[in-house]
Amino acid sequence: MCGIIGYIGPKKVVPLIVEGLKKLEYRGYDSAGIAVVDGEKINRRRVKGKICNLEESLRNEPLSGYYGIGHTRWATHGRPSEENAHPHLDCTGTIVVVHNGIIENYLSLKEKLLKKGHTFRTDTDTEVIAHLIEEYFEDLLELAVQRAVQDLRGAYSIVAISTRDPNKIVAAKDGAPSVVGLGENEFFVSSDINPLLNHTKSIVFLEDKEIAVLDTGRVKFWDYKANALDKRVEQLAWNSLLIEKKGYKHFMLKEIFEQPQVIRDTLSGRVSLETGQVDLKETGLSEKVIKRVERILIIACGTSYHAGLIGKLMIESMAGVPVEVEYASEYRYKDHIMHERTLIVVLSQSGETADSLAAFKAVKSESLPSLAICNVVQSSIARETDGVLYTHAGPEIGVAATKTFTAQLCALALLSVHISTIKGIKSKEEIKNFILDLQKIPHNIEEILNDARVIEELSQRFVSYNHFLFLGRWVSFPVALEGALKLKEISYIHAEAYPGGEMKHGPIALIDEKMPTLVVVPKDRVYEKMLSNISEVKTRSGFVLAVASENDREISDRVDAVIRVPSVNPLLSPFLTTVPLQLFSYYIAVARGADVDQPRNLAKSVTVE
Ligand code: G6P
Repeated sequence: MCGIIGYIGPKKVVPLIVEGLKKLEYRGYDSAGIAVVDGEKINRRRVKGKICNLEESLRNEPLSGYYGIGHTRWATHGRPSEENAHPHLDCTGTIVVVHNGIIENYLSLKEKLLKKGHTFRTDTDTEVIAHLIEEYFEDLLELAVQRAVQDLRGAYSIVAISTRDPNKIVAAKDGAPSVVGLGENEFFVSSDINPLLNHTKSIVFLEDKEIAVLDTGRVKFWDYKANALDKRVEQLAWNSLLIEKKGYKHFMLKEIFEQPQVIRDTLSGRVSLETGQVDLKETGLSEKVIKRVERILIIACGTSYHAGLIGKLMIESMAGVPVEVEYASEYRYKDHIMHERTLIVVLSQSGETADSLAAFKAVKSESLPSLAICNVVQSSIARETDGVLYTHAGPEIGVAATKTFTAQLCALALLSVHISTIKGIKSKEEIKNFILDLQKIPHNIEEILNDARVIEELSQRFVSYNHFLFLGRWVSFPVALEGALKLKEISYIHAEAYPGGEMKHGPIALIDEKMPTLVVVPKDRVYEKMLSNISEVKTRSGFVLAVASENDREISDRVDAVIRVPSVNPLLSPFLTTVPLQLFSYYIAVARGADVDQPRNLAKSVTVE
């Protein structure tokens, strides 16, 4: 949550920072701000709302400066307002700071600073950082920052500049991401790589409790004790074209349509039909380690949690290993009873979700192997686990996860086969057939996308409903959860998902003509059971829309409308049944005039608890 950026170099700083903030806007859009240094002066501009408001303000009244910092906010402490927008100043107006994260002890720090005579102007936790740096300032900004961070508790990434030690940007982080970009005579610091892609491919990831000092000629790295560090420079593989809309009205729609390619990319180089095997050596988890595994724990949040629920069913079915899936935000506070042969899997698109990282840290131990399934290379979670299996989905800008969800399903399907092969659970023939089916999924999704117009037309009949019930069983229950989540987050329509069999334990009381039911009902082992649930809804005057298999002749007579998906291996049906639900939510949200890519109150990367 919150995006931060800093730039020092020969380019025009204001447009560069604004451009960078737009690429970070998915991290929060409650307010935005920029501070640039112009000689002896810090010029600052902050606005409530999105980056476009900041742009407009800068167009009407331009700011001048040579280097600077910017911020896009997802409010935690202090309501969204211009006053609470970053960057924040110290008392003297010579130090200015942006921050992503939460300073948990800010109230006690504020109290101490107030006693020392500091004047606070905002309700934010961030402002204490500016005053702490002021308090510790002697001659070098990096030394003041290094002292200030010793007092901070919580998760944060900060960037500071000061006219008292000019031509310098200082960044520090603990628990929230920060990446430094190394260009030609120019340096960047940012919350993620997106703003850097147009400018440089050479980057350095800051680790927790590290400081970066960017000046006009070089970058130096310190640990929190001010010891110099020799950091590894990495080369980025993503390019800036990946974060353009490419003619689509919204990033979300573009990302839905990218799914066939994303799955091809996630499979690429990892499966062989000739040998009927999956090669996941890249994860770094040896056969010996996998052979020992008798239980898997999947930790995740949001959409990734739903992918985990489907992954559980795939792994249990293909590899015969029991799997538990836990919401990270709940799991971190539970009593942890760890089986000594557990593989811990952290499932996170961004690799930065604070709860997922904290839950993992709570159970991490040298004796338990761990694997991250992440989309963002070198993200915090990816760097914390023993091994990583990357989903090759490319950057996802729409706040509602779509292509990264199906990419996660793909990674989990690969993992299930990998474990199955090593443990000798399924025959070669069975594995080969599964892989063959998996390889056909991109084509199957293309067939659904070719008919997107039908889903668009159908969705228009539902635009004015305010409540939806989603039902599914077995692999389709997590799909129902994900479908309901999509509708809630981008259309602001209340939607609940239930396992079909649970409906009669309560939700059935809600059914009337004002609440349509969306049933996910592919032809699988629970198909007949779902038909009974559909009848139960129909007899209570409920409108039923089904997502069903193309070879299902019966369903049309049982429901009011049907969206067809290709018939596939039942374990893989979530890849297909999810896509119409994504499109359904998308078209309803567009028709209701909602801001699809940046839904209210949400952020893509939840880096606070
Ligand atoms: C936020 C995003 C969701 C995402 C969830 C978990 O809520 O809006 O799309 O599923 O975080 O994020 P992660 O990066 O850990 O998968």
